[in-house]
Amino acid sequence: YLSDYFSIRSTIISRYASTHVQTVLRNTHPEAKEAIFDLDLPASAFISNFTITINNKFYVAEVKEKHQAKKMYDEARRQGKTAAHVGTRDRETEKFRVSASVSAGNQVSFELSYEELLHRHLGKYQHAVSVRPRQVVGNLTVEVSISERTGIDYVHVLPLRTSQTGGRGEWDADVPPSTRVEKGSHCAWIVFTPTPQEQAAFSSAGIMGDFVVQYDVALPDVAGDVQIYNGYFVHYFAPRGLLPVQKNVVFVIDVSGSMYGTKMKQTKKAMHVILSDLHPDDCFNIVTFSDAVHVWKAGRSIPATAHNIRSWKTVNQILLPFLPSGTDINKALLEAASVLTQSPLEPSPQRIPLLIFLTDGEATAGVTSGTRILVNARQALRGIISLFGLAFGDDADYGLLRRLALENRGVARRIYEDSDAALQLTGFYDEIASPLLYDVALSYRDGIDLTRTLFPNYFHGSELVVAGRVAPGATEFHIQTVSHGHNGQLSLENDISANATEAATFGCSLDLGQIGRFVQRLWAYFTIQDLLQARFRSNDTTARRLLIEKATNLSLKYNFVTPVTSLVVVKLEEEENATAQAIGTPDPPSLRREGSD
Ligand SMILES: *[C@@H]1O[C@H](CO)[C@@H](O)[C@H](O)[C@H]1NC(C)=O
Ligand SMILES: *[C@@H]1O[C@H](CO)[C@@H](O)[C@H](O)[C@H]1NC(C)=O
Ligand SMILES: *[C@@H]1O[C@H](CO)[C@@H](O)[C@H](O)[C@H]1NC(C)=O
Ligand SMILES: *[C@@H]1O[C@H](CO)[C@@H](O)[C@H](O)[C@H]1NC(C)=O
Ligand SMILES: *[C@@H]1O[C@H](CO)[C@@H](O)[C@H](O)[C@H]1NC(C)=O
Ligand SMILES: *[C@@H]1O[C@H](CO)[C@@H](O)[C@H](O)[C@H]1NC(C)=O
Repeated sequence: YLSDYFSIRSTIISRYASTHVQTVLRNTHPEAKEAIFDLDLPASAFISNFTITINNKFYVAEVKEKHQAKKMYDEARRQGKTAAHVGTRDRETEKFRVSASVSAGNQVSFELSYEELLHRHLGKYQHAVSVRPRQVVGNLTVEVSISERTGIDYVHVLPLRTSQTGGRGEWDADVPPSTRVEKGSHCAWIVFTPTPQEQAAFSSAGIMGDFVVQYDVALPDVAGDVQIYNGYFVHYFAPRGLLPVQKNVVFVIDVSGSMYGTKMKQTKKAMHVILSDLHPDDCFNIVTFSDAVHVWKAGRSIPATAHNIRSWKTVNQILLPFLPSGTDINKALLEAASVLTQSPLEPSPQRIPLLIFLTDGEATAGVTSGTRILVNARQALRGIISLFGLAFGDDADYGLLRRLALENRGVARRIYEDSDAALQLTGFYDEIASPLLYDVALSYRDGIDLTRTLFPNYFHGSELVVAGRVAPGATEFHIQTVSHGHNGQLSLENDISANATEAATFGCSLDLGQIGRFVQRLWAYFTIQDLLQARFRSNDTTARRLLIEKATNLSLKYNFVTPVTSLVVVKLEEEENATAQAIGTPDPPSLRREGSD
């Protein structure tokens, strides 16, 4: 197959990115052949449309409830309309793959759209698109436009990223060639159009990498930015210039036999960096565990003074794998909680208690029932301690860590076994190293159908986002923010006219309809994410079923492919021997790759 055309266009409006990918393939073989379209997309993205055009005939994929999609797919297969594919997980990306049979000399066009909310980490938003056409393409374009109502601070285009580990291709130096960046105060426009010669210079198979744009917004108002369109609102809250709150951090590190070797080396390297970066006002302690639990400084945390840290010595002394051994997650959690709940050494202002828990395995010693561990952890952490779970490698019980974190004010993250694991660990730590506020409660009089409004922590460089609807008839929108920080309680109140942003366009888009639609889609996207997360937290089957049903209804209404829906194309023309496609994202796929496609 020959590709004449490959284009990616992303429109980002207030952090909400809609991306459209199109590729045109021409069958140059003398007989009918399978054309394959595959693409990596971010795991948090929802596919919102997919179409195939063959011989000027248009086939739009339908989003269906997962089980119904499976039935349609099975039926299509029975009728001989073969083939299927499912996304597989690779780090933070989702693989989308579709094939269609096209007769000699004809061409096929694949068009995929997906949407995602960009999150702010360490003071930047990052948007990455996968550019992997697998050949040199006559006409290759990547175009990104960014519109931000409160202004754009900066825009950077990174060198093409050829692997998630940051590996680089031929052009390692800086911005890819044929990249143009135009930045205004509220609109930025980035276009990347490498010529066939430039693509060939990258590799004989053309460009294979992620085109990555980073930017940050200006947010001068401490109360953040509220946008209201068509009865939906979004509130971005990210006060700048606050002083960090001191923290009491306990690192709980798995030293069971399976950590031996590379994983332990990487963990030590990361801990060395992390300990060296602790603020002298912070307190810390280290708990190691296998089937036994060892607390470094018995009883409680100690101040993170240079004298106490001596990072390499400490790290080498403490992180000794106990061989061979089980994994007592329960006991390790309880010991760490007890360290954190001891009274501080000297009278001191409030310290935020953080528990960073790293394991590469499942609970195999002591209490091994996930349910009991969850109950025990909830009791021991008392709704005060924030738990961050790091699942190192494929054998770690990510499901348990995720629930532990969600139920205890934190988040869980996968750490991939790769050469950059130490960087992944320090990178995650950096995100939570500077807590600025805790127990942040946002409330909206006349706000309904709100997404999550309570946030245990607000870290430096991040952002809290709430979306919802404005009650019908409301003219004034009243927002109240209550939180705690370095100087005690911080309260803010704002009144915003409910039609304040209706009339104004901003950024690159002069289309009020487009700007108006984004808030509603963002609300739906966010609400579905919330519902799916609540499903993991809930242990009542009736409640779970209701959450799934709500998420399914919203996914269908907004045409989103989510963990509860799938995409199906079945009605291709007979002579083209259509392929039935079902794509499941991003949870355990309900369909396995079958048959010959
Ligand atoms: C999907 O894309 C096709 C072709 O671009 C378009 O005609 C159709 O309206 C889109 N559907 C939705 C739900 O956006
Ligand atoms: C479709 O299938 C028929 C019979 O199986 C075959 O003769 C024909 O060549 C196929 N057409 C394409 C485009 O694959
Ligand atoms: C490439 O695509 C763009 C956008 O569709 C079009 O304007 C341009 O004429 C195309 N160039 C070539 C060489 O096909
Ligand atoms: C908002 O509504 C008020 C009264 O309902 C009206 O006076 C004002 O002109 C409106 N503003 C905009 C920007 O539409
Ligand atoms: C889960 O179940 C336990 C006891 O079985 C109960 O104490 C707890 O409140 C439940 N949690 C939720 C979120 O329903
Ligand atoms: C979901 O949609 C179905 C069909 O429209 C409806 O019967 C059901 O009540 C909806 N469920 C929820 C939880 O909204």
